Amino acid sequence: MRISFDSVAQVYDRTRGPPGHVMKQLSDTLIGELRGYKTVLDVGVGTGRFAKPLQAKDFEVVGVDISRKMMGKAVEKGVDNLFRGDACFLPFVDNSFDVAVCVHILHLICEWKIALREICRVTQGIMVSTNYVRRDPLREAYNRLLKGYGCESRRLGKGEWELKDLVKPLKTVFVASYDASADRRLVFLGQRVYSSQWEIPEEVNRKVVDELKRQFAGKVSPQELQILVWDIKDLKDFCVRFGNNPV
Ligand SMILES: C[S@@+](CC[C@H](N)C(=O)[O-])C[C@H]1O[C@@H](n2cnc3c(N)ncnc32)[C@H](O)[C@@H]1O
Repeated sequence: MRISFDSVAQVYDRTRGPPGHVMKQLSDTLIGELRGYKTVLDVGVGTGRFAKPLQAKDFEVVGVDISRKMMGKAVEKGVDNLFRGDACFLPFVDNSFDVAVCVHILHLICEWKIALREICRVTQGIMVSTNYVRRDPLREAYNRLLKGYGCESRRLGKGEWELKDLVKPLKTVFVASYDASADRRLVFLGQRVYSSQWEIPEEVNRKVVDELKRQFAGKVSPQELQILVWDIKDLKDFCVRFGNNPV
């Protein structure tokens, strides 16, 4: 089973991630962390949110994604070197890249450990991802209310941010602290734009979001964003340990 983002390519950039100025701090910090490396594989490159600023700084970035429409958006921004492919079967020879950028993709893949093994096979230096440090009361309440209707948000694999509990990152880098606005996310939750919501019946989602509006309208919650950096060798050791038990 694969989750393509074709259906949300049009709205992806304006419905995802932190506010614009934090996104800029994120890409600046990422560029700083990758200094000294040259070749980068962006796994699940999407609309090129990371590939674009990295290519602008002369990194040799290759992006891979299963969604033509997401990559179409990246092309519109001027991103090149894009391949349509599956993270579990990367079309590259061993040790092709210095760095793998892996942001918000492993949770979409049931066999996420296979994808991780593939990333380790084609990368020789580090893997980087992002992590939101603080709890997310709005999302927690959403999931709790859904359960009351016998529904659950979809999550197939482990998030990169959960990987840090299985394999210790080499480094954790502070990016920014900011206030996340509930109102903005309530609009997007109401439109079921997040992949975890796509199987929630519209009627249930509407009732849950109406309740959330009563609880969260006008509120903000403090958030902190980090970059996680793993040594590929540590991830490879983890992959050897899971052996033939990939899910
Ligand atoms: C949440 S988006 C993240 C995009 C980008 N990394 C970012 O942070 O903006 C997930 C992306 O992974 C892609 N994707 C999902 N499963 C995939 C797979 N098995 N192989 C390659 N790409 C995949 C989706 O099409 C989508 O573009």
